[in-house]
Order: sequence, then C-alpha cells, then structure tokens
Amino acid sequence: MIQKTPAEIVLIKKACEITRNALIYAKSLIKAGVSTFDIDKSLEKFIIDSGGSPACLGYNGYPAATCISVNDVVVHGIPSQNTILKEGDIVSVDIVVAYKGYHGDATRTFPVGVVSEEKEKLMKVTKECFFKGIENLRVGDRLGKLSYAIQQHAESNGFSVVRELSGHGIGRRMHEAPSVLNYGKVTDGPIISENAVLAIEPMINAGKKEIAMLSDGWGIVTRDRRPSAHYENTVLFTKTGAEILTLEQDDEYYSR
Ligand code: MF3
Ligand code: CO
Repeated sequence: MIQKTPAEIVLIKKACEITRNALIYAKSLIKAGVSTFDIDKSLEKFIIDSGGSPACLGYNGYPAATCISVNDVVVHGIPSQNTILKEGDIVSVDIVVAYKGYHGDATRTFPVGVVSEEKEKLMKVTKECFFKGIENLRVGDRLGKLSYAIQQHAESNGFSVVRELSGHGIGRRMHEAPSVLNYGKVTDGPIISENAVLAIEPMINAGKKEIAMLSDGWGIVTRDRRPSAHYENTVLFTKTGAEILTLEQDDEYYSR
C-alpha cells in the first residue's frame, strides 16, 4: 500500500477540501427540471474557480467534469442535456478534483424532492455501509474487515453489493493500488499501512447485484433497472485512526 509523505498529504487534503466543497455546492443544484449537463457545467466552473481541476474530464476519454448517475445508473453517468431531473429521482454526483498533481474523490447520492421509502432507505443504508466499514478500522487491520462490514450491512438490509466496481488507493493518480472491495471475508485483502489514502465507495443496489453497461460505453446500470446508490469519501489512515478528508463539517458523523 502506498504511504504518503507529509508534503503529499497536505496537497491531498487541499484536493479533498475542494471536492467536499463542490459536493456541498452540488446539493444546492439538485432540483426538478434541471439537466445533469447544467449541473456538471456549474460544478466544472466551481472546481476551476476553487483552484483545482476536474480530474474525470479526459480520463480515458471521459467527456465531462463529473459523473452524475440517476436512479438505476450505478456510476459513471455522463451528464446530458437530455437527462432532466424530476421529483422522486435519486442522483449520485461523483467528483474527483486534482490539485497540484494530487487527487480527492468523493460521491454523494441526493434525493430530488420527496423520494420513495425504498430509495430513502437505500441512500441511508449506503451511507451507513461506509461508516460501518471504517468503524474501528485501523492501520494494521486487513482491508477485508471493511469489505466484510459493508457487505453485511447492505445484505442484512435486503440490498446487494455491486461486485465489478470497487474503491481504490488515491494520490498522485486517481486510481492506485489496492482495490477496496465492498464485499469479502475479514481475512482477505492487504494490511492497511500508516499514511495510506483510500477512496472508499460502497455502490449498493436495491435489487440484484448484476450490472450492465450503457451504449455510451460509460454508464453502468443495474440489470434489473431497480435503483442504486453510491457514497464515497477519501480517507487517510494514521496511527490515531481513519481521517475522512472529504466529509462535510456539518455531517452527523463528523469527528465521531
Ligand atoms: N470516482 C470515480 C472512480 O473512482 C471517478 C471516475 S472518473 C471517470 O471510478 F472518468 F472514469 F469517469
Ligand atoms: Co473513486
């Protein structure tokens, strides 16, 4: 596992601060009648005005600044003028910011107005999966402890874990080793190193775990077309525990 230097951690923290602020801004943009294209354009400007750059833009040819995934779109939804938000939708906004060569990566799933009880529960459980995953997770533990806790929480609530997608190390590159799986055994995975930085991102389906790719070559949807939610933070592991670098300071879980 890559261990970051103190100087690198300063830059990662700055990238994460811009990412977090962009997500706070994203929340204010989510409204019925707005296109995901317009949301993406506003976020792109916000990131650049904040001194960062949108790292998804051009990544393996990805055509937008952010990924905006509505309802049955699990991840990598390409923002579009044809995707107009409507009351009852759930919308995942996934933002990766680069700052002086280092990255921050986070995702929130937002409701548009009032959503179904199932979608409300799905968003809540997906966020809880993240926090159950990092609960008591320390340097020296196997990453499988996190993977197992996430899977347990999702499945005990009647939901399923997408297998083909995972979290990842992050730093100089958006995606670094190791893969951070959202399912598995406690005895699996690498041991967490001091000063490792990981993007931890449960992707949880209301129905079955199977996915398919949209014809645009990016968007991933649930095969059964039931909704999916995503919650992600960039996390630094130190001697004293896990520090969530992209968490809103008014979040109910902040500094617990
Ligand atoms: N947070 C996403 C990930 O970790 C970002 C993907 S950016 C894209 O995979 F360019 F690949 F879309
Ligand atoms: Co990520």
